[in-house]
Amino acid sequence: MRDLTEANVTDAVLNTIADDTNPRLKEIMEALIRHSHDFVREVNLTPDELLYAARFIQNVGHISDDKREEGVLLGDVLGLTALVEILGDRVRVGATESSLLGPFYREGAPTRDMGDDISLNDDEGEPAFIHGTVTDANGNPIEGVVLDLWQTSPNMFYEAQVGQPKDYDDYAYRAKFRTGADGKYWFRSRKPVDYPVPTDGPVGLILNGTGRHSWRPAHLHYLIYKDGYQTIQTELFNSDSKYLDSDAVFGVKETLIIPYEQVDDAARAEEYGFPTSTFYEGTYDFVMKDDASVKDAEAAYSQRASMSAA
Ligand SMILES: [Fe+2]
Repeated sequence: MRDLTEANVTDAVLNTIADDTNPRLKEIMEALIRHSHDFVREVNLTPDELLYAARFIQNVGHISDDKREEGVLLGDVLGLTALVEILGDRVRVGATESSLLGPFYREGAPTRDMGDDISLNDDEGEPAFIHGTVTDANGNPIEGVVLDLWQTSPNMFYEAQVGQPKDYDDYAYRAKFRTGADGKYWFRSRKPVDYPVPTDGPVGLILNGTGRHSWRPAHLHYLIYKDGYQTIQTELFNSDSKYLDSDAVFGVKETLIIPYEQVDDAARAEEYGFPTSTFYEGTYDFVMKDDASVKDAEAAYSQRASMSAA
């Protein structure tokens, strides 16, 4: 029988990992065991605290569904997602910088026609016209790129979110657009607004318990992909947000901040179907890097989410 002590318990667990374990799984599990044991030693974790942690993780699962991913949000507020993205950007030099996916991405957004209003004619918010070009690193436009994008409505909720005060159609403020030969994209929406991440779940306990606010600077999320190119997972932030320096989930990067210029042009407003002559215009050009190994990002997300690859 093993006589477990503080000195040998970590090795006892490490020794249970079979030699023929998948090398990457072995690397991750060994590090997880070593670091988590050191963590317990450092804070002298009590049995009650360990039980609390177990229930915390259970609650992360309980509150999650296909429209809300509390586990993603947990990684976000701990800065783990930001760190993973920063490490990933080291091999994506030259492409548009990445930012986090967030907990509210939904697969299956409908493909809309260029120029469509993704707000589905919302009667709230500030009309916005958003456009730009997708090019390769040499400035050549790329045809057939999918921009899978999503944002909150002006009332600060994603369309399917729990607590949503308005009855939006499924996939309002979500769309896929596919670029033509000129690499251009353009669509209508409402100017993104600052919003708080949900604090009614376990992640809220962390924020409230440590004196943190829950606000994110206004942004639009993008997954941009085409076979043969590295997928861009990013966000564009409004330059006039007061939360650029204190994003609750650490997503902001200087190169991803864009101004929304106010335009007063009755002819253009009418062309876009906006009810008043004034609207906001946001412009951003995305740069993609070649990579023959990159596949459809939505399929990749699906596979990741199901953990079927493990
Ligand atoms: Fe978001």
